[in-house]
Amino acid sequence: MGYLRTALRDSLTAEELELLPSGFDRIGHVAILALPPQLLPKSADVARALMRLKGVRTVALREGPIVGRYRRPQLRVIAGEQVTETVHKEHGCLFKLDMAQVMFAAGNLHERGRIAKLVRPGEVVVDMFAGIGQFSIPIAKHAKPRAVYAIELNPTAYRYLCENIRINRVGPVVNPLFGDCAEVAPRGAADRVIMGILHVAGRYLPIAVQVLKPAGGVIHYHESVPTPLRFERPVERIAAAAAARDVEILGRRVIKRFAPGVDHVVIDARIGPA
Ligand SMILES: C[S@@+](CC[C@H](N)C(=O)[O-])C[C@H]1O[C@@H](n2cnc3c(N)ncnc32)[C@H](O)[C@@H]1O
Repeated sequence: MGYLRTALRDSLTAEELELLPSGFDRIGHVAILALPPQLLPKSADVARALMRLKGVRTVALREGPIVGRYRRPQLRVIAGEQVTETVHKEHGCLFKLDMAQVMFAAGNLHERGRIAKLVRPGEVVVDMFAGIGQFSIPIAKHAKPRAVYAIELNPTAYRYLCENIRINRVGPVVNPLFGDCAEVAPRGAADRVIMGILHVAGRYLPIAVQVLKPAGGVIHYHESVPTPLRFERPVERIAAAAAARDVEILGRRVIKRFAPGVDHVVIDARIGPA
């Protein structure tokens, strides 16, 4: 039985306990969860239970999906300090961010560690949708890349990206680039390209192919896909973007359920020489 169910068994009815989400996220000092409408009148009880957890100083409700080009969350603080800027520790890295301003997907924890382990010494990596450095910082910290180009369009996320490069002391390796990756990504430069965005990544695949060295390299392509098509559609899109080049699918995995009937998947594809 989850923490919330146990903590709330005396304050919620059996039906209400059934409606509780199976989990919640903890990013730094902020606990975040989504409640179904029927449980909103009980949000004070839920918040009190979360505030009892060691290290939690703020409780926030997710009030809708992540929106817009900058992937901004919709949060409302319901208990504790009205402070959503925090420092989150993960994979031995520090991530400073404002949870109400920029996205940090707790469910991608494993993927962030996995990618850092794949990078070989001396590689050049281009992180096309870098956010606050979710992939770039662990790569620089745990692998030995020659360079990581971390590209970010949202000024707020870019500010945190630069700060995270500084506090993790990876400045000599990670080069932050501000702007649209379609314009600022270095062409013909990368051994590995990370496309860590869901709703638009397909459009940027031809650019990712151009960003690879002429000798080719690996693309980590993320997409949200209806479950029946979950590997077929992204693989087809990669093959179409790579045009006449050889494509070898190195891996395909579901990262998490994105919505009912929709999966967040990542495909690792090696693109052959131009
Ligand atoms: C969904 S977040 C993901 C961050 C990180 N890659 C991860 O997977 O956790 C995507 C980020 O890409 C940024 N972004 C969106 N379009 C972009 C573009 N065309 N060029 C560069 N960054 C972009 C957004 O501002 C946002 O911070």
